[in-house]
Amino acid sequence: MSKAPVNVTVTGAAGQIGYALLFRIASGQLLGADTPVKLRLLEIPQAVKAAEGTAMELDDCAFPLLQGIDIFDDAGQAFQGANVGLLVGARPRGKGMERGDLLEANGGIFKPQGEAINAGAADDIRVLAVGNPANTNALITQNHAPDVPAERFNAMTRLDHNRALTQLAKKLNVSINDIKKLTIWGNHSATQYPDIFHAEVGGKNAAKAVNDQAWIEDDFIPTVAKRGAAIIEARGASSAASAANAAIDHVHDWVNGTPEGDWTSAAVPSDGSYGVPEGLISSFPAVSRNGAWEIVQGLEIDEFSRGRIDASVRELSEERDTVRGLGLVK
Ligand code: NAD
Ligand code: LMR
Repeated sequence: MSKAPVNVTVTGAAGQIGYALLFRIASGQLLGADTPVKLRLLEIPQAVKAAEGTAMELDDCAFPLLQGIDIFDDAGQAFQGANVGLLVGARPRGKGMERGDLLEANGGIFKPQGEAINAGAADDIRVLAVGNPANTNALITQNHAPDVPAERFNAMTRLDHNRALTQLAKKLNVSINDIKKLTIWGNHSATQYPDIFHAEVGGKNAAKAVNDQAWIEDDFIPTVAKRGAAIIEARGASSAASAANAAIDHVHDWVNGTPEGDWTSAAVPSDGSYGVPEGLISSFPAVSRNGAWEIVQGLEIDEFSRGRIDASVRELSEERDTVRGLGLVK
């Protein structure tokens, strides 16, 4: 018997990431080559026409797995029956906007989307916030969907993870396939901590293989943490295809599982592991088993890593305090 189609809701569908993402979802790369999909695209009214254009192109690809495309400018309708929600559309930081203004503006987007998910999404809904500030946007959404299990709300740090893999592979002149167990901790921001102290290269400890603390501190960590800004500087626009690729990787692994003997990085609600306050949506080393993330336990955290993790988690706590002050989260 052929599988039932999975409803995938994508917000900000007419944006840059949307354009790089939708074709890959429709081709089967998000959920697997045997899973049909129906796309539900959410845009603001002014961008619906552009989304219609993208839908025409999707039609023109004749993807065998694509069983329908619906376009909405209303969150309540867009999330009806959604099994996967990719929250890409967000308010970019405008001139003169402070971080608090940005968080407030995004509250106006993610609060109603959380309410819509609560009211109409399918029981197995999984939500990935991509739009920035992704961790706190995920938290706002989660807070407005109290009937959905809290762990179904993630934020994306897989792009940071992939960036770190490549930087390390280049440094050691090895293939990406040789690197395992790398971790991004904390916030998807410049405070994030890419950690190679537990990573392995060809079965050996990666930090020992690098044997260059100055490179780790002064080159690797800032290159990964500030890569988003470097892409904006070079391209004149933020990363799009690589962000879409990371969203595909994240949801694919969440649904289908991570490979044995490795882990990845995902921003998931903290259960208090590694001293991260419970409830913060923070990046951890994570494996996916039976369709759910599990935080990898038992890693020894030395003083250097502790300081880095704490700094990023502190920023997440501050963001939570700000949106709490705005009445957007409990
Ligand atoms: P973009 O400006 O090209 O597209 C955003 C789209 O969202 C626009 O089409 C806009 O009309 C739409 N939108 C705005 N408000 C909406 C709403 N309420 N409902 C539905 N759609 C809405 O931006 P982009 O380059 O596609 O990036 C999208 C977001 O992803 C940005 O916040 C960006 O900072 C973030 N991003 C995150 C990562 C990550 O690793 N987590 C990486 C890259 C970009
Ligand atoms: C990225 O990491 O590429 C983006 O989050 C940068 C941004 O601010 O959009």
